[in-house]
Amino acid sequence: MKVNSTAVLGLQWGDEGKGKVIDCLSENCDAVVRFGGGSNAGHTIVVGGEKFILRLLPSGVLHPGKLCLIGPGVACDPDVLQSEMNDLQERGISVSGRVFVDFGAHLVLALHKARDSFEETARGNHAIDTTRRGIGPSYADRVSRIGIRVSDLFYPELLKVKASNLLKMHKFCSRGEAGEIVDEAGRFFEELTSYRKFFESLADDISPRIMKLIADGKRVLFEGAQGSLLDVDYGTYPYTTSSHTTVGGIFTGLGIPPKYLGDVIGVVKSYMTRVGFGPFPTEMSGKQGDRLRERGYEFGSVTGRPRRIGWLDLVSLKRMIDLNGVSRLAITKLDVLDGMNEILVCEAYELNGKKQESLPPNHPDFSNVKPVYTRLNGWEGGVSGVKREANLPVQAHAYLDFIEKKTGIPIGLVSTGFGRDDTIFMK
Ligand code: GDP
Ligand code: IMO
Ligand code: MG
Repeated sequence: MKVNSTAVLGLQWGDEGKGKVIDCLSENCDAVVRFGGGSNAGHTIVVGGEKFILRLLPSGVLHPGKLCLIGPGVACDPDVLQSEMNDLQERGISVSGRVFVDFGAHLVLALHKARDSFEETARGNHAIDTTRRGIGPSYADRVSRIGIRVSDLFYPELLKVKASNLLKMHKFCSRGEAGEIVDEAGRFFEELTSYRKFFESLADDISPRIMKLIADGKRVLFEGAQGSLLDVDYGTYPYTTSSHTTVGGIFTGLGIPPKYLGDVIGVVKSYMTRVGFGPFPTEMSGKQGDRLRERGYEFGSVTGRPRRIGWLDLVSLKRMIDLNGVSRLAITKLDVLDGMNEILVCEAYELNGKKQESLPPNHPDFSNVKPVYTRLNGWEGGVSGVKREANLPVQAHAYLDFIEKKTGIPIGLVSTGFGRDDTIFMK
């Protein structure tokens, strides 16, 4: 079997520009598939000056006719999905008949969103600063085996039992403190049944569908959400999301074996950002960070929170490349570094006076490492909007060469602006 599938995964703390990259690659694809995360994702795509922020719909949806699949590993908020689909329809993009959601996807309900905020408050000084989109509580219910899945909506008697069980557990766990989530049973059941009609035309068995597409030689893109450093097991736990954002999430999140995966593209911002709390060894403070935040418009696409800014960290990047089996890199937002006199890259950490080139396995150590930087020259002129490799300033090319050499992974794509066309496909 010749496999024409590609995974596109963020290798940092999310917001690497996955949406833009996937939109670019979707033109030559037949289907784009989300395998994990939920509406905590915000994937921005700008086409012809018009901006779209996608939360649940795969980032191939702006290309007419492309199949968009949402797998069982996704935490699906029906209200968000419905409003996203309506919004696109209103903006002249037809989505009917080409969006499907797996029967096994778990729902994110109002109760999960209220619970997310309640938990954040309860964490006090140890808050994570989640997106408050109910993602953690929905995944928690999934593994506690009390979650409600799309398929449950089609079995009213079973749904009633599951709904009352879910409500009972939430009431018990919050001890009535989260007033809003201690909902009235009748109203809760009504909320659930109202989703049935919406899912009637969307619900599907996604796993066999993907395997058939790939076996038939179709080109499939697996769209990562969040970033590898937010993976619930391999990220900076507990300052992570609640799903597997790394490559393994594709197989568990879609119910397909590894033989259906071809290339793995790792998306890397040419500097680094993080929204929310948690360690960030290369974080910049002061004017330099403010300047990049302004230039890169680094404000959360879901919550509007200002993103924390830092230099590129090769130590964590190399670990995430290994962990995901990355075969090519896509470097984004190179234009944001235009005008910098010098560019710093972290090549090692110092911990307790000792230099080390690997990621410490323990979260408290990761909070204490000091970055060891290599300084590279900035470039004259700009790369903003450059579309050909030959037109890159010498020092900008040198920065890309440096990343390739240090990681050992070829760069296949460089993004030089938010527009679809501000893209260089490297030789
Ligand atoms: P995602 O979650 O990984 O899809 O990334 P986001 O959409 O949350 O954040 C990336 C932001 O950078 C968005 O506002 C994009 O429009 C923008 N962007 C993507 N690539 C580039 C680029 O090469 N240059 C600039 N200036 N902006 C970019
Ligand atoms: P995309 O797909 C950036 C962060 C939140 C918080 C932590 C946990 O756009 O790259 P959660 O709501 O998931 O429980 O929050 O994870 N986070 C993201 N940061 N981009 C994302 O998605 C993120 N999704 C979650 O800010 O720190
Ligand atoms: Mg984002």
